[in-house]
Amino acid sequence: MQEVSVGILGLGTVGSGVVQILEQNADDIQNRSQTRFSVSKVLVRNPQASRNITGDFLLTDKPEAILKDPQIDIVVEVMGGIEPARTYILEALRNGKNVVTANKDLLALHGHELLDAAKEVGKDLFFEASVAGGIPIIASLKESLTANKITEILGIINGTTNYILTAMTEQGRDYNEVLKEAQELGYAEADPTADVDGLDAARKLAILASIAFNSRVTVDDVYVEGISKITAEDIAYAKELDSTIKLLAVGKHLEDEGIEVRVHPAIIPNSHPLAAVSGVFNAVYVVGDAVGETMFYGRGAGSLPTGSAVVADIIQIARNMQTNATSNINCTCYNELPIKDRKDFRSAFYIRLRVKDEPRVLATLALLFAEANVSFHSIIQKQKKRQEAEIVLVTHPTQESQLREALESVRAYSKVLRVDNVIRFETGELD
Ligand code: NAP
Ligand code: HSE
Repeated sequence: MQEVSVGILGLGTVGSGVVQILEQNADDIQNRSQTRFSVSKVLVRNPQASRNITGDFLLTDKPEAILKDPQIDIVVEVMGGIEPARTYILEALRNGKNVVTANKDLLALHGHELLDAAKEVGKDLFFEASVAGGIPIIASLKESLTANKITEILGIINGTTNYILTAMTEQGRDYNEVLKEAQELGYAEADPTADVDGLDAARKLAILASIAFNSRVTVDDVYVEGISKITAEDIAYAKELDSTIKLLAVGKHLEDEGIEVRVHPAIIPNSHPLAAVSGVFNAVYVVGDAVGETMFYGRGAGSLPTGSAVVADIIQIARNMQTNATSNINCTCYNELPIKDRKDFRSAFYIRLRVKDEPRVLATLALLFAEANVSFHSIIQKQKKRQEAEIVLVTHPTQESQLREALESVRAYSKVLRVDNVIRFETGELD
């Protein structure tokens, strides 16, 4: 029986889940992996603080106690942040340890450096929990779907924003009110900026796209829009269009076109499987040239769901250690594909605007869009007050540069009082 000693950096939400799973499922884990795991040391900021989780391990605030301990085989980084997490991981690798991390912020910025370091020393660096918590999406892309050319990834990969948009849709509630509730329930961070502004999803998309398209994508490559501009009116119109609004992470690789990576609110038809993903749940829809459409669904955060992914990585490393096969799958970025500019993105659009309710206004709008080569799929018009109408235009898929050209003329048209919102309409069913 192999004996593996684990050192954990961090004993918060995820670290506690890891300790709990290794304890509660110890017998099954041992039988499946022919390995007995022991957590020997855990790094925290304050070892004296009272904690809900206990175990037969030493709590320490000295990183070297773990990073330099020759008995420790696997270091699990679940403390978060960029530094000192990056330095600790590099040091752990240099000291001959395999590493598991859940740190999407770090990987989206420095994944390349860390994976290179792991390869150099012939050790594993696994990070299943960094995207979509408990959903096994990274192993699926790297292993189960590795026979495919992946052409598209559509993800709902931020639980906080999905919770907010679901409550706005199902209960007709206002954005600020639901955000406050999400904070009180502990779904949204005290500072929810990274979630609601789309940055958290962008970091996860950078990781997924790098793996799926075998080309390096960093968070800076991802075009990002958050959900704060979504109003109750947009949600109501989406319903009228038999659709729903989600914060969508979109990764596309079309032959000869480079990679398109973007995170933004998107209207998706209720017939699409992602439309049914509600509350804090996450899902990733992946299209491969051989497998066709697939979808992975589950909890994107939380102590045990995220711990499930971390422990799976720990077990896989132990299996690799048994056969001296660590460092088998490291950086898979063998392509250098260009990242598409925003002006070349292609999707359909929803445009909500206020106009003077007078003859020829709709006809003029149609002309302005036609001049930019943008064609309408559908139109809704409602009288809002005397001589003022709200118009919702849904276009056929168009290049973003053409849409911008049309919007410039629309904004300059004297009968247009304002353009209230422009939202992408995703999934290609409007062709
Ligand atoms: P957390 O609850 O804030 O816990 C962080 C832990 O790390 C705490 O135990 C803290 O010590 C320790 N720590 C932080 N900085 C430290 C430092 N400089 N030195 C020593 N110890 C330090 O964080 P979490 O929610 O578990 O998240 C951990 C990682 O998992 C992050 O990268 C996060 O993005 C990722 N992740 C989290 C989730 C989730 O559901 N929470 C899901 C997916 C991925 P003290 O206890 O003494 O403060
Ligand atoms: N803040 C993240 C979310 C946590 O809401 O999905 C998991 O990464």
